Amino acid sequence: MKIENIDEPVRILNSNVDVKSVIREIAQDVNQEEAFYVCHLDEIVQKHRIWESRMPRVEPHYAVKCNDNITVLEVLAALGTSFDCASKVEIAKVLSVGVSTDRIIFANPAKPASHVRYAASVGVATMTFDNESELYKIQNLYPNARLVIRIRCDAVDAQCPLGMKFGCDPVKDAPYLLDIAKSLNLNVVGVSFHVGSGCREATVFHRAISFCKDLFNYADNLGYCFTLLDIGGGYPGVRGSSIDEIANVVNDALDIFFPDPSIQIIAEPGRFYVTSAYTLTCNIHSIRNVGNREDGSRKMHKMYYINDGVYGSFNCILYDHQVVKPQPLRDYVGTKKYSSSIWGPTCDGLDQVIEDVVLPEMNIGDWIVFEDMGAYTLPVASPFNGFPIPKVHYIASESVWNMLKDVVTMSEDSFKMMDGSMSKKLESANNRYNYSDIPATIELPHYNQKVVAGDHLLNYINISLIE
Ligand SMILES: Cc1ncc(COP(=O)(O)O)c(C=O)c1O
Repeated sequence: MKIENIDEPVRILNSNVDVKSVIREIAQDVNQEEAFYVCHLDEIVQKHRIWESRMPRVEPHYAVKCNDNITVLEVLAALGTSFDCASKVEIAKVLSVGVSTDRIIFANPAKPASHVRYAASVGVATMTFDNESELYKIQNLYPNARLVIRIRCDAVDAQCPLGMKFGCDPVKDAPYLLDIAKSLNLNVVGVSFHVGSGCREATVFHRAISFCKDLFNYADNLGYCFTLLDIGGGYPGVRGSSIDEIANVVNDALDIFFPDPSIQIIAEPGRFYVTSAYTLTCNIHSIRNVGNREDGSRKMHKMYYINDGVYGSFNCILYDHQVVKPQPLRDYVGTKKYSSSIWGPTCDGLDQVIEDVVLPEMNIGDWIVFEDMGAYTLPVASPFNGFPIPKVHYIASESVWNMLKDVVTMSEDSFKMMDGSMSKKLESANNRYNYSDIPATIELPHYNQKVVAGDHLLNYINISLIE
C-alpha cells in the first residue's frame, strides 16, 4: 500500500475560492518548490450527484485501484457509494473507513489464494471469476462466496482495453463455466463485464447487457436465480466530459433486458469520480534552449525540466495512455511563444511529459498546472531517482463539509476552516473556534479541559451559525 500524502487537514474554503487561487497561494510561498496537488472534494461530491441523477438504478462501486487515497475513500463512503476492490490490501483499506462487507465487490477474476482466504476471513463474499481454475480455488477456500461471472464485451475504442486479459466469451465459454459452477455446488449470483477503461463507444453497453440477459436465462435453466448485474467501468471523468450518452444507452438497455426492479444493478466507476478532482502543479527547475538563437535561421526549441515525471504522477502517460495538457500558472501577456517540450526530473531519457507543444517563454521557478490528474496517477507513482511523489492539499467548500461532517470518520485534525488565505488561523477560546470570514462558531468536544481527539470526532462537533 502506498504511504499516504496527507500531512495536513482538508481546508474548508468559502465559496468564492477556486482551485487556481489556492494553487497561486501555495505556489507563491517562498519555501514551496516541490510539485503539489490540489484535490477539490466538491468535484467528487458533484460527480456522485451526476451519477445518481443519470443512472438512478445503478449503484456505483468505486474502483479503488483508480485512486486509493483514504480521504477520497472516506468521502465516497460518506456519500453512500460501495466499492470495487482488486486485492486484500484494497479490501482492508475500504474496511478501515467503516464500510460494511456487503458494500464491497472483490472484482478481480484471477485472485491469489491468500487474497481469497482474506476475503473469506472478513466476509467479503461477492467476487468475480472468468475461468475454471478460479472456481476450484473458490470452492476450496470460500465455498459460500457469492460469485459473479465476468464476460468479455469490448468497446471498439477505449483508452485502456481490458478484454485481452479478463472476461470469458459470453457465448462459447460462459455457459460451460456456469455448468461447472453448478456441478461444484457454487453460489453464482450474477454477471459482470467491463467494456474497457475510458470507453469511447457508448453502444457497447447495449451489446454487453444483452449478453448478460442471455446468461441470466441460461442460469435460470440450470436452476440458478441470478439477482446481480454488474456493468463495470468505462465512464469518462475529465472536465467537460459527460456520462449522458452512456447513461442513455444503459438505461434503455436495462428497461429492455432487465425491467425487473428486484435485480440489483451495480457499476464499477473509477476515473469518473476522481479524474477532475485533482490538479497537479509542477515547478520548472531547468531549461535547455535548442537551436540557433542568433540568426533565426533555425527555430529555437525550449526544453523545460519539471519536478514530476513519468516515474511519478505522469506514469499515467505510459500506463493509462493519458494526454496531459500544460497550463502555465502565470499570465504571459505579450511573451514570445516557442515550440517546447516538457521533461520529468529523473535521469531517464524516457522521462518526457510532453513531446511538442507551443508555450510562452517561461523561466526557472515558474509553475505549470495540469488538470484532470486524479485517476491512475498517485497509486502508481514511484519516487525513482529520489524525486518525491507530490503532496496533496485537500480543499472543500463549506457546504460540502457541512454535508460530510457528520458521516466521515476522519479525526478533528483532518479539517481546518480557511478562506482563500491559507495562512489565516482560527481564533480560539477554550474549545470554541471563531473564524472571521465565516459566520460560524465551531465547538469541539472536550473532556477535562482537553479537546477530545481521535476517530469519529466530527460526529460530535457542533457548528452554530452566528446571528
Ligand atoms: C475490474 C475493474 N473495474 C473497474 C475499473 C475502473 O474502470 P474505469 O477506469 O473505466 O473507471 C477497472 C479498471 O481497470 C477494472 O479493472
